[in-house]
Amino acid sequence: MKITSAEFVMSNSSVAKCPNEPLPEYAFIGRSNVGKSSLINMLMERKSLAKTSGRPGKTQLINHFKVNNNWFLVDLPGYGYARVSKKDKKVFQKYITEYFEERRQLVCGFVLVDIRHEPQPVDLEFMEWLGTHQVPFAIIFTKADKLKPTVIEKQAATYLQKLLDGAWEEAPFHFITSSTNRMGKDELLGYIDGINKG
Ligand code: GTP
Ligand code: MG
Repeated sequence: MKITSAEFVMSNSSVAKCPNEPLPEYAFIGRSNVGKSSLINMLMERKSLAKTSGRPGKTQLINHFKVNNNWFLVDLPGYGYARVSKKDKKVFQKYITEYFEERRQLVCGFVLVDIRHEPQPVDLEFMEWLGTHQVPFAIIFTKADKLKPTVIEKQAATYLQKLLDGAWEEAPFHFITSSTNRMGKDELLGYIDGINKG
């Protein structure tokens, strides 16, 4: 899919205030600092459409971006970040879960995980939560540039095998990406395009 336009539409803290246009929507979720905002910029070929930071906790609201005038990409705050106050953390969790429970336009959630790490309890919990709420999702491995090319596939396979060893009967669909070297860009955009075209 060629990106002809990508514009920031709005940020807000409640699902009720999200845009009400009936366009298909895809949301990026995952631990703070995993690379959600960077991946959005990479896919959209824009340096700073979504705000990124080396410090976790940068994205704090639900951010809607309209792409090619016919679908939305959503940047969400990270979960599992200990340095925001307990009270704030609860608020994040509440509107993140509300978003996934209530957002009718949502077509697919993308759970981002750092390819270098083993499955983390908070990610497993969140994927399980999505499963029980019947929210379709796929996994996006991020920061693949941090690994040697020869071990990338193996590392992803090990991660997915751990899901199968746990509660999952089937491994979720997955993508391997790097915002630094644009790995996975065509696959991910092609996947979204395929769904949008039905
Ligand atoms: P929050 O908004 O805080 O939840 O974080 P986020 O998931 O949006 O992460 P963000 O995109 O802000 O990136 C966090 C840090 O990781 C930044 O320093 C990025 O430069 C770095 N980063 C993101 N993606 C990649 C990648 O693919 N490769 C490398 N090497 N670094 C990355
Ligand atoms: Mg962010």
